[in-house]
Amino acid sequence: DTGNLAYKVGVTLDRFIKSKQADFPYATGELSQILRDIALASKIVSREISRAGLSDVTGAFGQTNVQGEEQQKLDVVANVRFTRALTKGGEVCAVVSEEEDLVIDLHNSKGKYVVAIDPLDGSSNVDVNVSIGTIFSIYRRLSPVGSPIQEKDVLQNGSGQVAAGYVLYGSSTMLVYTTGHGANGFTYERSLGEFFLSHPEMRMPEDGAIYTINEGLTPHINTNILSYLEACKRRGASARYIGSLVADFHRNLLKGGIYLYPATAQARQGKIRLMYEANALAFIAEQAGGAASDGRQRILDISPEGLHQRTPLFIGSKNMVKQLEEALGN
Ligand code: AHG
Ligand code: MN
Ligand code: MN
Ligand code: MN
Repeated sequence: DTGNLAYKVGVTLDRFIKSKQADFPYATGELSQILRDIALASKIVSREISRAGLSDVTGAFGQTNVQGEEQQKLDVVANVRFTRALTKGGEVCAVVSEEEDLVIDLHNSKGKYVVAIDPLDGSSNVDVNVSIGTIFSIYRRLSPVGSPIQEKDVLQNGSGQVAAGYVLYGSSTMLVYTTGHGANGFTYERSLGEFFLSHPEMRMPEDGAIYTINEGLTPHINTNILSYLEACKRRGASARYIGSLVADFHRNLLKGGIYLYPATAQARQGKIRLMYEANALAFIAEQAGGAASDGRQRILDISPEGLHQRTPLFIGSKNMVKQLEEALGN
């Protein structure tokens, strides 16, 4: 009804961030500004995506990133939009991006924050008009402000995140973020150019009836995981797999379920990148009452050794992740 709609277009992202500023670990407004910068860049990217078939942003860019993946044009467009917004914003000293081999040192010694970002997640889905996303993690630098950035500023455990979130460019565009006080979701109203609070205090069901895995991997994975999947099937669970981590995670967050990207015989650490894919979603999952594990330990407890390090990922409803860990003998 219209009353309900009026409620849903009541609280803008901006107003919400302001009202929650006191929740931030360092309530000086800088972290709020970073979130606003990311939201602004995501509106631009959302616009590019929505007309992708009309403009010239579909298809391959013609270069390979450090992962050995063929970059899509939209990977590059999104990378430019987000890194530019973070550079201009002035609060950030360094950026880690999927699309950049090395840390981007913004030479902004006043910046107190480090951001890790997957500018465009699920880029193989761009050309076929399927949901894609953006994932980001925000850390406070550890070295003193004013000094050059150091490795320890960048290679922090996920438990050091001060904020994290994702944008899902789906049937609507949504932004979900946490600062460690629960997770909240905002839906973009394109004609007004604003994100509005639509999913306050998100909670992930403790159990779920969805399992999400690239079934093509199953000949190459640990047989204990196969047994776990069989048990899911016997319980009547449904398979759902989009192939965009953000979209797969978001559905399971709302409906309950587990996402699995295990190690395979060929990829001993799986595929998902710790610093700009797994950590942010793990933070949100935990804040919403879910869990995230590499099969042995909490994702947020892993100490990264490299920017583009990969990790097996099992994330979603708390009880499902726990049962998976048990199936693995942990
Ligand atoms: P990206 O597009 O940022 O490189 O990420 C792709 C990732 C993730 O989004 C998705 O869940 C996974 O790759 C899909 O992998 P498979 O094609 O092996 O299923
Ligand atoms: Mn990629
Ligand atoms: Mn990705
Ligand atoms: Mn990506």
